[in-house]
Amino acid sequence: MSIVDKVLGAITPPESPDARAKATDKARGAAAPGDWLSMALDHHGQIRAAFERAQAAASAEDRIAAFKALATVLNGHALAEEVVLYPALAKNGEKAHASLAYTEQTTAKMQMAELERIDPADEAWHDKLEHIQGAVLHHMFEEEGTWFLELKAKAPDQAFLTRRYAEEYGRYVLGVGGPPTAPAASEPRTFAAEADTALEEVGRNDAGPLQLGARTQDEAGGPA
Ligand SMILES: [Fe+2]
Repeated sequence: MSIVDKVLGAITPPESPDARAKATDKARGAAAPGDWLSMALDHHGQIRAAFERAQAAASAEDRIAAFKALATVLNGHALAEEVVLYPALAKNGEKAHASLAYTEQTTAKMQMAELERIDPADEAWHDKLEHIQGAVLHHMFEEEGTWFLELKAKAPDQAFLTRRYAEEYGRYVLGVGGPPTAPAASEPRTFAAEADTALEEVGRNDAGPLQLGARTQDEAGGPA
């Protein structure tokens, strides 16, 4: 176990599975059908299921497939949060929580990059996976129990968050950016929109599907 693992383990509070389930229920109660919170909670469910499938994978081949499925939903969800939800959290008076959220997800990305380099036939692969799972479950507990509720209560632009969260998640996982829409009035662009038009077009055309097979497998098996 690396020093990073030990530090990560030491700072991961041991909230119970029951406490996590209650936080999920509470967040579900605050969500509306189709809103950003509802989508984020769906993705949390898919992430939990992907971790469980990876835990259950016995062969090296199955572990690699499970890792790819997990990485797809985890990265797509995390990027949408980092681009849309965490900035909104900071903007609405919760900078400390937003900062912690970024730090935890950056750590998870670094740990996933380490896991990708471990021989899936090695027991160290399972140990690393278990460690990341614990950290991510705790992170989702913080989001569902506190941070997302703050964002739901404080952010005035809920429809904007829903549209942009869906757009960013879809761009990564499905390889699409959603229909072109005008910037929301509450989020004026401060850079030269005209000069960016060509770049946006290139990005839209070059953004191919990422790990579509894994995504399909992941979404098919995830709980609501
Ligand atoms: Fe999350």
